[in-house]
Amino acid sequence: MTERKDDRLWGGRFEREPDAQFDAFQRSFAFDRRLLPYEIAVDRAWAKALEPVGILSAEEVQQMLAALEKILGRVQTDDAWFQKAGAGAEDVHHFVEKALVEELGPLGWKLHTGRSRNELVATDFRLFVIDAVSAMKYTLAGLLRALLSQAKANLSVPMAGMTHMQHAQPILLSHFLLAHAEAFARDITRLQHAAASADACPMGSGALAGNSFAIDRNAIAKELGFSCITVNSLDAVSDRDFALDYLFALTGIATHLSRLAEDFVIFASQEFSYVLLPDEYSTGSSLMPQKKNPDAWELIRGKTGRITGALFSLLTTLKGLPTSYQRDLQEDKEALFAAHDQVGDMVWVAKGAIAATTFREDRLRAAASNPALLATEAADYLVRKGVPFRQAHDLVGKMLREAEKQNVPWTALPLEALKQISPAFEADVAKNFSVEGALAAKKVPGGTAPESVRAAIADLEVRLNKKANKTGAKP
Ligand code: ARG
Repeated sequence: MTERKDDRLWGGRFEREPDAQFDAFQRSFAFDRRLLPYEIAVDRAWAKALEPVGILSAEEVQQMLAALEKILGRVQTDDAWFQKAGAGAEDVHHFVEKALVEELGPLGWKLHTGRSRNELVATDFRLFVIDAVSAMKYTLAGLLRALLSQAKANLSVPMAGMTHMQHAQPILLSHFLLAHAEAFARDITRLQHAAASADACPMGSGALAGNSFAIDRNAIAKELGFSCITVNSLDAVSDRDFALDYLFALTGIATHLSRLAEDFVIFASQEFSYVLLPDEYSTGSSLMPQKKNPDAWELIRGKTGRITGALFSLLTTLKGLPTSYQRDLQEDKEALFAAHDQVGDMVWVAKGAIAATTFREDRLRAAASNPALLATEAADYLVRKGVPFRQAHDLVGKMLREAEKQNVPWTALPLEALKQISPAFEADVAKNFSVEGALAAKKVPGGTAPESVRAAIADLEVRLNKKANKTGAKP
């Protein structure tokens, strides 16, 4: 065995040891150990690719594959060993090489022929993102299903639709729930985009310039499940767009979750009382015995900041970096891993809380029955009688003022009073203004009429089954 002064990957040209504090500072094993299954998969493909180009014999490839299998098995069953053996490793790439040399002696040193950690880390990280997306899609589909089943269970419950947090027009609770579901369905599309942007294999790009051993890049890509290879070796070691795309998709999910959370915090307040908070997703007060707080929703809302922070962290790291691999890029992983784990938890909790929520139909219906919500219907009524809309809007405004003066809801004004405001008001006016009538009128596709909502539910179910038919293993 050729003597090596230490087991570093780069010790040859150095005379002195690194400063201990700097050494600890530059190591990434503590977090990139998570990439180990991907590193082993890439190693397998690389070992196989070294045979046709004459670097490894068929027997050596077999020995290497067996050793890699053994290392993976041990990592998966003996975390204490992984932890301990990893203590001396700079990063996950160093760890595997050390473990391989322990198994195979100097043959282990042959695996790194013609390759660089720069392409390895880019490849491992892309594989991680592809699996992460698939797991996230699965989790998010669960939340969509919970929203859909609450929409079905409460299909015809009316509520007061609001803009600017002011009563606007009646809508269906199911329509409101589907509005959230649509936002999460878009997030699934964004996740798919992130996976597509990670789907190209950098192996063969070397440190930056490419590979001198005529390695079959396409064979490696195929073995790893990529649908293509990256186009430019320099770009391949610089590019972290796939990580940004995934973080952007996660930020989208978190932002949508925070909006859902805010709606439910408001709905759970005594003033609204639209929902009964489920015990399973609420906590109490250590001082005030009566309290039941919407902590699940508040924490989801609060944790969103970290996810946005992770996106900004990577954007800031990447800004102004020179083209090519720079060590700064090692900073890409921790924030993304943390954001992935956190959003996964946030979606699980939201799904559980939605499924366990009881909606108070009495309160929702009472709010929807505020006659002010039908003012637009009154204007539409006049329009149907031939009054130009702007004029109708003014006339209804006058009518509302009159009702306010008399201190009655406008629907209680007698026909004569209405006729004084506009002769276009006729005897059929009474039967035209009801919550149900207002809802039924909104029967355009995408509207809040019960038949439109029923169609929207069916349509979303079809799309969801198409989008989320693949389940992912937890990366
Ligand atoms: N730990 C490094 C990272 O995560 C791996 C690549 C190191 N390459 C290098 N030339 N130092 O980015």
